[in-house]
Amino acid sequence: MIKNIQFLDLGTQPLANNYLKFKDLNNKEKKYRLKVGINPKTKLVSINNPISGKLMFNDKYPYRSSMSKTMIKSFKDLSKLIKKVYNPSKILEIGSNDGSFIKNFSKNKVIGIEPCANVEKITKKLGYNTYSEFWNDRTAKKIIKKNGKVDLVYSANTISHIEDLDNVLKAINIILNDDGILIIEDPSLLECLKKNTYDQFYNEHIYVFSLIGLENILNKNDLEIFDIQNLKIHGGSNRYFIKKKISNKKISKNVKINRNKEINYGLNKISTYKTFAQRVKNSKKKLKKIFVKINLENKKIIGYGVTAKSTTILNYCKIDNKFISYFVDTTVDKQNKYTPGTKIPINKYSGSIEKDVDYIFLGAWNFKEEIFKKEKNFIKRGGKFIIHTPIPKII
Ligand code: SAH
Ligand code: TYD
Repeated sequence: MIKNIQFLDLGTQPLANNYLKFKDLNNKEKKYRLKVGINPKTKLVSINNPISGKLMFNDKYPYRSSMSKTMIKSFKDLSKLIKKVYNPSKILEIGSNDGSFIKNFSKNKVIGIEPCANVEKITKKLGYNTYSEFWNDRTAKKIIKKNGKVDLVYSANTISHIEDLDNVLKAINIILNDDGILIIEDPSLLECLKKNTYDQFYNEHIYVFSLIGLENILNKNDLEIFDIQNLKIHGGSNRYFIKKKISNKKISKNVKINRNKEINYGLNKISTYKTFAQRVKNSKKKLKKIFVKINLENKKIIGYGVTAKSTTILNYCKIDNKFISYFVDTTVDKQNKYTPGTKIPINKYSGSIEKDVDYIFLGAWNFKEEIFKKEKNFIKRGGKFIIHTPIPKII
C-alpha cells in the first residue's frame, strides 16, 4: 500500500463529538494525533491514523442533521429533483441520521442505514425502515434479503467518515440495480483549501474529497461520475451523480469543467498542500491574536454552534474556557455539557443573545447566513462575530 505524504499537523485532538459531562471534567481525555496527508497515487486526501468508527459512532452520538433549516431545505430540494428526474421505486440512504432526507419520501420507498442506535431510534419510531448498522458488504446483503435491490443510493456527509472506501463501493455495487444511481455529497477539498477551512479535518472526517481523488477510487470499483453540482452547503460541497460503468448515461460536461478547475488550482500537486499548511499555521496565529486582544479588553466572547469542526479549531489554536465564556447550541444532546479538550460550557440556545455578550465566535460558520438572519438584534446593537475563514477576522 502506498503511504500518504503528510502535509498538515493539527496537534493532539480529542474525539470531536465527545462532549463532556460535568462529572467527567477532571478525568483525563483520550487524545489522538491529527495529521493529514495525500496519497500520491490516488490523490485522496485523508487523515493519517483513522480510529475505529465504533469508537465514534455509538449509542450516544449527539449530531442531528435537522438542527439547521439550511440542511432541511437542501434535502427537500434534492428529494424534489430525485422524484422529478429519476422517480426511483426504492431508495437507500447511508448515514440517515435523524431522517432529514428520508422524511421527504413515503415510508415504503426508503431504507435508512444509521449505526448510532440513539439516532436511528428516532426514524424507526416514526415508522421508517431504518437499520442501526455500519454500511459494508455484509449489511448490503442483509438489506437485499429483506428488501431487494434499490434504484438510488444517497449518502451525504457520511462516505467521507468511512475508512474502507473499496468496501463501501463494493456494497453499493451489490445493492444498486445496474441502471441505478448513486449520489454522494461531501465537503469539497478545493473549497476547503481556497477558504482555509482546515477544521474540515477531524477524526470523523477521514477524507475530504476532491473530484480527482474520488474518481480514482470509483474507477477502480467500476463506477463513474456522470454529473456534479457545486453546493454552498458546509462552506462548499460537491454533489456527485454516479452510475455503474455498464450503464450508458451521458456524461455531463460539468465533470470535465470541475476536473479542470481542480487541476488548475493544483490539487494534483503536493506543493499546493504545503502552501495550504503554511496558511493554516498563519491562520492559527491570527485567530489567537484576536482572542487575546479581546480578552485584554475584558470583553465577553461566547461561541455559537458547537461543531465537530470547532473542536479542531479550538484545540489546535488552544482557545479554551479562559477565552470563550460558553457556547449556545440548539442540539439537546450537546446542551449542559462541555466542549471536548477545551472544556467550554455548552448552554441551551434561549432564543436570543444575552445583553452582556460583545462577540460571538462562529463555530457553525457554515450556517453564517442562517445565523445572521436569526441574530439581527445582536447585530443591531453593535455585537460582532469572530470567524476564521477565509482569514481570521471580526465582522
Ligand atoms: N447524512 C446526514 C448525517 C451526516 S453525519 C447529513 O448530511 O446531515 C454522519 C453520519 O454518518 C452519522 O449519523 C453517522 O452515524 C453515520 N455513519 C458513520 N459511519 C457510518 C457507516 N460506516 N455506515 C453508515 N453510516 C455511518
Ligand atoms: P454542523 O456544522 O452541521 O456540524 P459538524 O461540524 O459537527 O459536522 O453543526 C452545526 C451546529 O450548530 C449544530 O450543533 C447545531 C448548531 N446550530 C445552532 O445552534 N443554531 C443554528 O441556528 C444553527 C444553524 C446551527
